Parts: sequence; C-alpha cells; structure tokens
Amino acid sequence: MAEKLIIKGESKKERYQALLPQLESLVASETDIVANMANIAAALKEAFNFFWVGFYVVKEGMLVLAPFQGPLACTRIKFGKGVCGTAWKEARTVVVPDVEQFPGHIACNSASKSEIVVPITKTGEVVAVLDIDSDEPDAFDETDALFLEKLCQDVLPGKF
Ligand code: SME
Repeated sequence: MAEKLIIKGESKKERYQALLPQLESLVASETDIVANMANIAAALKEAFNFFWVGFYVVKEGMLVLAPFQGPLACTRIKFGKGVCGTAWKEARTVVVPDVEQFPGHIACNSASKSEIVVPITKTGEVVAVLDIDSDEPDAFDETDALFLEKLCQDVLPGKF
C-alpha cells in the first residue's frame, strides 16, 4: 500500500491523473469501508487542499456524516435536502458554483462558497455521497466531476 502520496503536475487534471491510481491501490488492500473513506478524504485534502472533503452514508433513510477532513459539519441530511440530499435523490453529480444560489443549500460553514457532490451507487442504489466544499467560488468543473465520478463509480462501490 502506498503510504505517501506522490502528486505531481501543475494542472488539476494532471494531479487527478497522478492521484487516482494511488487511491485505487490504497483501497485495493483494505476491505473496511470506513478506513477507505478516511484515507480517501485525507488524500483528496492533501492533493487539493479543499476546504472540506468527506462522505455521507445512507443509513436509516438519511445521509449520516462519515469520515471527513475539515471543519465540523452537520451530521444528518434528509433525502432531497441540500446539495447532498439532491445528489442522493437524483443519483447524479451536482456542481454548485455559488452555494448561495442553490435553493435549500445547507450551510455547515459560512466559509464554503462552492461545492460538488458525487453519489456512490451500488446495484442501482445510492449508498453514500462524496461531498467537497471550496472556500473559493466556482472551484469545481467537468474535470473534478470526471475524476471524482471515476473514484465513486469504479473504485469505491465494491467496498460497500
Ligand atoms: N452543504 C451541504 C451540507 C454538507 S456540508 O457542506 C459538509 C449540502 O447542502 O448538502
């Protein structure tokens, strides 16, 4: 298992390209989903210095806070509520360039300015979401969506 990340590259795309295979090998040798979510949150934080990066898992009909890196966050989110609940309900990636313009956005921290939420689906059901917040507006684009979807669709579902 790689215990030290090597993230080279100037562009975001290059950094994701360097990171993804390392995340794959990181989780390949570990079956515990909490351990894997914890290391992935840490790796994404280290690679991109996101303001907040973490997971919410579907439990008892709600999204419940799971491993994350960053400031304290809300612990439970209802189906269809906020950006996370919307990504869960619609089973699709939601990119929010300006959180103040997203109806029903849940402000866990007022420093958060933009956000991306990517669902993790197993056998047709959303089992968790990956949520990333930036303290910069408009921080996320198709590159983030592409690579984070690879992570959430190819690497993680088999671990749930
Ligand atoms: N902003 C999210 C809530 C989770 S925090 O950002 C960590 C939302 O609207 O669902």
